[in-house]
Amino acid sequence: MTTTQLSLFDYLEHQTAARPRDFIPVYEPLLGVEEENNVLDAVRSGWISSLGAYVTRFEHEFAGFCGVAEGVSVCNGTVALHLALHALGIGPGDEVIVPALTFVASANAVRYTGATPVFADVDPYTWTLDPAAVADQLSPRTRAIMPVHLYGHPAPMPELIALADQQGLLLIEDAAEAHGAAIDGRRTGAWGRLAAFSFYANKIITTGEGGMVVTDDPALAARCRLLRDHAMPPEQRYWHNEVGFNYRMTNLQAAVGVAQQARMDDLLARKRAIAHRYTAALAGLPGITLPAERPGYTNVYWMYSILVQEPFPLARDALMRAMREHHIDSRPFFHPLDTLPPYRSEKPCPTALRLSRQGINLPSAPTLTDEQVDYICSVIWALAQGAPDNHHDLRSSITTNMAAYSQ
Ligand SMILES: Cc1ncc(COP(=O)(O)O)c(C=O)c1O
Repeated sequence: MTTTQLSLFDYLEHQTAARPRDFIPVYEPLLGVEEENNVLDAVRSGWISSLGAYVTRFEHEFAGFCGVAEGVSVCNGTVALHLALHALGIGPGDEVIVPALTFVASANAVRYTGATPVFADVDPYTWTLDPAAVADQLSPRTRAIMPVHLYGHPAPMPELIALADQQGLLLIEDAAEAHGAAIDGRRTGAWGRLAAFSFYANKIITTGEGGMVVTDDPALAARCRLLRDHAMPPEQRYWHNEVGFNYRMTNLQAAVGVAQQARMDDLLARKRAIAHRYTAALAGLPGITLPAERPGYTNVYWMYSILVQEPFPLARDALMRAMREHHIDSRPFFHPLDTLPPYRSEKPCPTALRLSRQGINLPSAPTLTDEQVDYICSVIWALAQGAPDNHHDLRSSITTNMAAYSQ
């Protein structure tokens, strides 16, 4: 049997069995023969730069998945954000409100335009932008709000849209971490004027490096396409009315993207199953807070993340070190951006600071097996009980709890 004929879950077994593991990574992509075949096809066709059938197909299929009309592929998620901001005319003298708790790319993209990122605190439950904190940061220079769907949980888009409309502000989604997440069934990417996704190797689908701007506005999409290609009008070769960029995605990247997009539903289902298994096993562990899923919201659990606080016997960093000794990788939450040297600000964001000190991303790859999730949880339980070498079998409690958490 070839891997093409295997279901995703058979494929996972096959991969794991074929490759002995002594270390559980935080993330790794799930790539198969479809990706290989598409890349081979692109290479053999000679279309390896940005012209090529896979580019337009990937744009069309990914935009359709988000529920919008237009997708403009680019070479990574950071430039997708920059292109979106620049296309909307954001520049020097403007302020853009960004959550304090996010990856630095969100703020860097604002800075590239010459505008100033202004940091607002996040909600303690969803860890995403708090609309009340945004309202506090408004100034006459505020032009836009850029929420981030952190670790896969959507930001509160209905409230943020109401605020943006009331104040006459633009709204751009940083959806780098949340492909397929939704609010009342409407997916991320379909809420802002423009939205930016990343397809880095650790994202829900990957093209190696890659990104996409999506929008329902054909004029804005055309503007992004123009700017992506040195602002050269397709009908006027080598004529440039303004300074543009080379932000194009290659057909090789898009060839991988088309194969990944075909796996999207399986990947999202697997990630939710992994999250439910973690939640079933870790629920009730004193001092551990599990990730939220606000009613009506669909969290895609890009990173299954927990908070560690007393009475858990180990502090966050000590827990990460102990897990590493048990061959389990993890990541700390981002530092609040207002604490980083290029962005230091006087106005504190206390919730972002607390979360950044307590948060851990647990292994979240779609290749993670149930046995690995159970092992990780049993190590955390054993560490909680001060008995790190006694990873007792949690199988029965997981089985009982799964029923409650798997709807
Ligand atoms: C929230 C957020 N925004 C933007 C990016 C930038 O994406 P990329 O790494 O593809 O440039 C990332 C991820 O890396 C991210 O997590």
